[in-house]
Amino acid sequence: MNALRQRPLIRVFENARTAALAAARRVADVVLERQARRMSAVLGLATGATMVGVYGELVRMHREDGLSFAHVAGFNLDEYWPMDPNDSRSYHKVMAKLLWDQVDVNPSNVHLPDGRVAAAAIDEHCLAYERALRQNGDIDHFLLGIGRTGHIGFNEPGSGAGTRTRLVRLDERTLKDNARLARPGSELPEHAITMGVGTILEARQITLLALGAHKAEIVSRALEGPVHDEVAASFLQAHDNVTVLLDKEAASALSPDLQG
Ligand code: F6R
Repeated sequence: MNALRQRPLIRVFENARTAALAAARRVADVVLERQARRMSAVLGLATGATMVGVYGELVRMHREDGLSFAHVAGFNLDEYWPMDPNDSRSYHKVMAKLLWDQVDVNPSNVHLPDGRVAAAAIDEHCLAYERALRQNGDIDHFLLGIGRTGHIGFNEPGSGAGTRTRLVRLDERTLKDNARLARPGSELPEHAITMGVGTILEARQITLLALGAHKAEIVSRALEGPVHDEVAASFLQAHDNVTVLLDKEAASALSPDLQG
């Protein structure tokens, strides 16, 4: 066993709600800690069903506890391509609805890849996204979900530790998961612009949230399996500040000593 390798800290919760509240608390703590030092906080953010409860709780904290996003910059992992930001399926719209429209963020601090960019301009757009990230300093806290292919962001199998923001084709299993959830006529594109694994791993602190029995197998492969580009989330094992928050169902395939 490699003594330098630190397993991510794993916390298992009674249910999805308490796990999501814990994720929101971690995000809020980073915002408050940076605020106390009169510094802005840079957050890496995910969308998806898993995050709905987290953003709901952050909005509640804003309204009831006075949590301010005035000095927060948000960088989302990904956006479908092609995709208009005004399309209700876009991650732009999802983030606006769940979080940004309900808090005191400065709109110029909200960043997502642009799904409108022309094919020939994608590489330059991806470089510009990474540049904008660097100009804000490192990501203080990254909130991640995990797909059933092991993707973080849309880093599907084959995405190595050095990958950066780029255009990807979604894995067949992700396309199937999307198709199952889509209303007729609202199918999602097969491509997306996503931050790379390397981009994500540069964050100072990372929280991975996974909820539900359908995530159990991939959570176990990501946390207990080999660190390999077949499962992009397995690279989180190599980061020294990762906390994994799970509900009981998502933790159910982990070996007993990790289930807490
Ligand atoms: C979304 C993203 C994805 C999702 C993952 C889980 O921005 O980057 O990695 O976090 O697909 O999605 P849900 O939460 O819908 O199961």
